[in-house]
Amino acid sequence: MTGWFVTSGYFTNDSVEYVAESFKKAFEKEKIRFVRKKSNELGCFLSESGEVCFDEPMPDFVLFWDKDVTLAKCIEKCGVRVFNKSSVIEICDSKINTAVALSNRNLPMPKTVFSPLVFSNRDETDDVFLKGLLKQLSFPIVVKEACGSFGSQVYLVKNIEQLKEIRKKLLHVPHLYQEFVSSSEGRDERIIVIGKKAVAFMQRKNDKDFRANIELGGKAYFDVPPCEFVQVAQKVAEILDADYLGVDLLYDKSGLPLVCEVNSNAYFKGIQSVSDADIAEIYLKHIVSVL
Ligand SMILES: Nc1ncnc2c1ncn2[C@@H]1O[C@H](COP(=O)(O)OP(=O)(O)O)[C@@H](O)[C@H]1O
Ligand SMILES: [Mg+2]
Repeated sequence: MTGWFVTSGYFTNDSVEYVAESFKKAFEKEKIRFVRKKSNELGCFLSESGEVCFDEPMPDFVLFWDKDVTLAKCIEKCGVRVFNKSSVIEICDSKINTAVALSNRNLPMPKTVFSPLVFSNRDETDDVFLKGLLKQLSFPIVVKEACGSFGSQVYLVKNIEQLKEIRKKLLHVPHLYQEFVSSSEGRDERIIVIGKKAVAFMQRKNDKDFRANIELGGKAYFDVPPCEFVQVAQKVAEILDADYLGVDLLYDKSGLPLVCEVNSNAYFKGIQSVSDADIAEIYLKHIVSVL
């Protein structure tokens, strides 16, 4: 059996290489041929008859560690199973799509307002949206770009001046506004769910920033979260029909979980350092079991 491990052709760092190395070892252990591929070297095209083609023979499955939804869909069109499925990658790539997909399913979330679509050649000339927003949320308010990672597109605004400033900056960028969950300031819970089962946990704490991300100085701690956290994370995986997820949960006032965001290709160097479970091996075993 052969599996491609696909990463972006335009980005790598320690975290990506750690994941690649972990899977390489897991593949060797399971006696599966590991072929590392970059997204820009697959030679994907549509033929004159409209068939999806690739430059080389397709593998038995693809372990996809990129966010290129088009590429993932094209691989699926060739009848090859992609992990995660393109539909899951597509939903998780946008915090807006994720929130909508998880809504009306009895899952606790911070109160959230989506920015309406503003065409790129239009400006906002009145305060209609802002007035409505401030009916729902009071300061401080969390602002998130729909697409972003490592906490770097997540902001906290404390007053109307800051709100207007960020709204102007993000007017043509999909984004949302969210209640600031002060009981979770600088702290969250990350749970890795594989095949609908929670397998690894960490609590992240950051003394210097409201965002708990390790990339912003958060530290990973071993944690066995209350069962409500595990139940919510597993329910998210069920709803999205995901093979692998990193679910971020916040703590509400009573210490119960609120869904913060969901990652379809969560890097696992941090969580692996505080977890006994071999994440790459468990994921690969899951893949083999569903093929
Ligand atoms: N509504 C919120 N209230 C309080 N803290 C939040 C809220 N949303 C996010 N955070 C903090 O910011 C961090 C980054 O936000 P998140 O939505 O996970 O974006 P990213 O994809 O950049 O990790 C979270 O891990 C959490 O610590
Ligand atoms: Mg996050």
